[in-house]
Amino acid sequence: MAKTLVIGANGTVGSELVRLLTGRGHDVFKATSRPATSANDVQVNLASGAGLAQAFKGVEQVFLLTPPGFAKQDDLLIPAIDAARAQGVKKLVLMTAMGANADEAAPLRRAEVHLLRSGLTWNILRPNWFMQNFNTFWIQGILEHGKIFLPVGTAKGSFIDARDIAAVAAQLLSSDALNNQEFDLTGSVALDHDAVAAVLSKATGKAIAFQDIAPEVLRGGLLQAGLPADYAAFLLLILGYFKAGYAERTTDAVQSILGRAPRTLEQYAHDYRAAWASAK
Ligand SMILES: NC(=O)c1ccc[n+]([C@@H]2O[C@H](COP(=O)([O-])OP(=O)(O)OC[C@H]3O[C@@H](n4cnc5c(N)ncnc54)[C@H](OP(=O)(O)O)[C@@H]3O)[C@@H](O)[C@H]2O)c1
Repeated sequence: MAKTLVIGANGTVGSELVRLLTGRGHDVFKATSRPATSANDVQVNLASGAGLAQAFKGVEQVFLLTPPGFAKQDDLLIPAIDAARAQGVKKLVLMTAMGANADEAAPLRRAEVHLLRSGLTWNILRPNWFMQNFNTFWIQGILEHGKIFLPVGTAKGSFIDARDIAAVAAQLLSSDALNNQEFDLTGSVALDHDAVAAVLSKATGKAIAFQDIAPEVLRGGLLQAGLPADYAAFLLLILGYFKAGYAERTTDAVQSILGRAPRTLEQYAHDYRAAWASAK
């Protein structure tokens, strides 16, 4: 089976992708920005470029994403695409985000276009907002106050379970049938955050509610948490798109690629309920 390097292998999507590819018999290499601790770890830092010149040696396929925290994602992705091509990679699956192709000047779109013109065999995955944000980025408000604090009003999102994104990536890296195609990945229904809070409340037995906040309140919290100002601005920009309704669209890509429906928010909340066990 193909040698496949997963960038972000210890992260939300990447760790599930490693599990699925290993189960399918791939020879999986795990990229990490930390010192390697096993023979299959490959140390590479997309932000500094350290390790990039060696990272793809002997690798046939790559799953590529940018770690969160960077507003100019093309500065990380384009050198990685170039290094992959230079070192003989055949196929690269790039994960960006739903809406990335709405603006040709957007950093993620620049990286997508660079891949399209690279000569590599490619797929582009554009997932909508992850369900897993409720057990990662937005968890502090839930644990400390029983609240999802976001500046999105009553807008709806067709949240996707990150495990389904990984399953799609694993399928694309295991077959050439869908080469050179792009997919917007969503869950099957769009929900507002009152509905999300109701699902989390039912799964946990806790009273979890949504509270709409002003964007500047969120910006203050993000900066206090140590996020770079440009990345906080990027998050507020895309949350503005959410509020404007751009995250509401659903696609049938997960169903058509996997032959099954996307996981529901109820399934996600059940599977991750331990994450909110200490909520007030
Ligand atoms: N959250 C959402 O709702 C959403 C929606 C659409 C798209 N996305 C996209 O999803 C991506 C994030 O995916 P994810 O949530 O699976 O990631 P994640 O869980 O944050 O994991 C990213 C991994 O990248 C590694 N990493 C950190 N800094 C690095 C560096 N400088 N160089 C190389 N690796 C580094 C880290 O592992 P080590 O510590 O081992 O290095 C980390 O586990 C972003 O590009 C985001 O735009 C997110």
